[in-house]
Amino acid sequence: MSIQGIEGVTYGVEDLAACRRFFLDWGLQLEREAPRRLEFATLNGCQVVVADKNDPGLPPAIEAGSTLREIVWGADAQTDVTRCMKSLVGAPGYFTRGGEVGCADPNGVAIRVRVSQKRKIDIKGVPANTWDSARRVDTPTTLYERAQPVEVGHLVFFTESLAEMEKFYCGRLGFHVSDRYPGRGVFLRGAETGGHHDLFLMQPAPPKRGMEHVAFTVRDIHEVFGGGLHISRCGWQTVIGPGRHPVSSAFFWYFKNPAGGMAEYYADEDVLTGAWRPREMAATTHEFAEWAIIGGLDGNTRRQGSGPGDEPG
Ligand SMILES: [Fe+2]
Repeated sequence: MSIQGIEGVTYGVEDLAACRRFFLDWGLQLEREAPRRLEFATLNGCQVVVADKNDPGLPPAIEAGSTLREIVWGADAQTDVTRCMKSLVGAPGYFTRGGEVGCADPNGVAIRVRVSQKRKIDIKGVPANTWDSARRVDTPTTLYERAQPVEVGHLVFFTESLAEMEKFYCGRLGFHVSDRYPGRGVFLRGAETGGHHDLFLMQPAPPKRGMEHVAFTVRDIHEVFGGGLHISRCGWQTVIGPGRHPVSSAFFWYFKNPAGGMAEYYADEDVLTGAWRPREMAATTHEFAEWAIIGGLDGNTRRQGSGPGDEPG
């Protein structure tokens, strides 16, 4: 059984117009639009649906306000979905429909599993020249004026039932543990060989349940910076970033998201295989960030850009 990653997410929101502006600035494609529902897509066809929070068709919310209402997980093949149909029997809200299976996870969030419809796309990040390996020769780097996220790469939730959530995702959906903050958090990935985490679950003290952030994969570190500067210039507020996570080695930049929680651009995360042994780490701010900028960078005064007061040099 192999869940390959996130096929799509659905938000229920209070301010649809603000979310429309945010996700267009964020670099998603608006594919369909109705008065109470927007359907965006990333470059590889991962879907981001934003609906009015009072839409009766939405699964229930696990917290007040704008938040994530459904996660769609993508499997390799229909045989994988069929296995999930069996392994999820008895879960709250269980249903099967048109070759898909759905239920609620122990956190109360609706999930659905289907065969992945994401496209293989031919885009390339900028290779880095390191001391031992020059991968970019006679080739200047890309300067990104804005980001175009490749896909939704991972989701982060607060939970009051960490052990139950780990058991659900690993036992019923075949996820793998990548790393742990014992008793406080667990990083999970669907595919054995793949990016460091598709899901990070945190059990804070005092207990709390909710969505923390949705992370969008971009091609390389330069797109994290270029995208973040653009979003800043559009007037959206940084929570923290840019910065770098020691646990996954990824570069990140987090913004407040009017659809709920935060949205993150990230790139250059570790890729793990079956040979990886999960680590146990202390949940400290040091583990969260090797370095990070609170409040972000000012996208209007960068020297290379088009902001006022630019000077060469
Ligand atoms: Fe993240």
